[in-house]
Amino acid sequence: MKATYWIFKRSNYSVKKAPGPKGLPIVGKGLEFNSQNLLKKLNELANEYGDFFVVNMFGIDYLILNSEKVMREVIMDKHLKAFTNDRGPTFCGEYGHYGSQGTAFYKEGYSHVHNTMRKYMVKGLHFYGEDGIDMFENKIFSELGNLNEKMEKIRMRGDEADMMALLQRSLSNVVSIALSGEVIPEGDEDEDMFWNFVDSNIYFMDNARSAVLMFLPLLRFLPGTYKRNWQRLNDSKAKLIKHYFVAQKKTHIPGKPRGICDVLFDAQEEEKAKGDVVLTDERVICNIMETVIAGITTTWSILSSTIFLLLHHPEFQDRLAKALQAITKQGEAVRSGDKAKSPLMEALELETHRLLLVTPMLLTRVSRKDVDWMPFGIGKRACLAEPFARARYFLYVATLLRNWSFCPPKDQPLRDYDPRHLENFDIELTLRPKPYLCRIEKREWN
Ligand code: HEM
Repeated sequence: MKATYWIFKRSNYSVKKAPGPKGLPIVGKGLEFNSQNLLKKLNELANEYGDFFVVNMFGIDYLILNSEKVMREVIMDKHLKAFTNDRGPTFCGEYGHYGSQGTAFYKEGYSHVHNTMRKYMVKGLHFYGEDGIDMFENKIFSELGNLNEKMEKIRMRGDEADMMALLQRSLSNVVSIALSGEVIPEGDEDEDMFWNFVDSNIYFMDNARSAVLMFLPLLRFLPGTYKRNWQRLNDSKAKLIKHYFVAQKKTHIPGKPRGICDVLFDAQEEEKAKGDVVLTDERVICNIMETVIAGITTTWSILSSTIFLLLHHPEFQDRLAKALQAITKQGEAVRSGDKAKSPLMEALELETHRLLLVTPMLLTRVSRKDVDWMPFGIGKRACLAEPFARARYFLYVATLLRNWSFCPPKDQPLRDYDPRHLENFDIELTLRPKPYLCRIEKREWN
């Protein structure tokens, strides 16, 4: 496997001894980087400075770790880990998420608050991950049924499918199910709240923009794109709070969780009884908001990348469909339990992660050296939703490949998938292919 992972964390401690490029006063190298060229630029610097160096951007020292060995040493070492698992303040976290109060934005990695929130989030996701598997899967199947119907209508009209848009809407429903047990009804006046929230958060998570706004936060009120996106973030946030905090709390029955929100409300009650309250209302809301962002962007990216890669390799689509049809019965849904019977599906997932890493801004790779597979991160701040995310991946990809074949569009050339050709990808919080169309055909059962 050819890959090297980057991890860069804001450090609260100035890293004086590490090598690194000299930048301009105040802005450092900040003006040279944007989300699109970041990987390429960091790769160039790695060729010059090696596996461990510091880049200053807008006054913040970023420590770049460019090999698995260095990453493990810095993040996992028992003497260092207490200092290397914090997060720095960002505009989005500080101003959009009540002073970074959710698990992902929370600044101190080794703290009672972070430990407690992480524990409850794992419990909330586990509720649908393994124990509540039937309930979770039945709801996901009904959503997959909706997606299937939409695809069938597109096929009947003879249109090409915008798979990324279809997946984005469908995943909003999955996140809604994970939070509350229910989908967002089609045509609901707040149907677009998820995407507006995700997109405006991604806008403010951009490093350069975040640094400027941390320095001059009042810019968010001046007419222009900052203000427009700030407004969008706040409008969609208000809708999320209305649907997933206020309405859910009103109908919550203690001890009978319908989803993550109820698990958090139950935990609030337990904490109150014990007199040790970590989960304030603001923290519950922040964790709901983070679930929306992390739950949609990551899975959207990996599913879009998977279909994109398979468009280039119809022969693998055929092999995968054959293997899936062999382990499942026609007319019956695929179940998570089938995952263990399908090594080819696992290979597809791992290869997609390896080639098109989902979260390059937190952890990414360029082709330099052999390393293990670690797309969900390592250490204290690693992804807490890996089983949940992987179970969803299997259900979506297996259901799609078993029933459909995906073919390149007629009139639009297919972009290539080499991750070094960054012009073919959108890289914001996650990496995903630029939007693409595809022809969809019903797959015959053999
Ligand atoms: C393919 C899917 C996913 C991938 C590849 C992924 C990847 C990651 C990575 C690399 C990190 C670590 C970041 C770091 O080291 O700083 C992370 C953290 C996190 N992820 Fe995921 N993730 C996925 C899905 C999800 C989902 C579905 C959720 C929630 C529903 C989620 C919630 C979180 C949270 C809350 C954190 C922060 C943990 C902390 O700071 O303690 N992720 N994810």
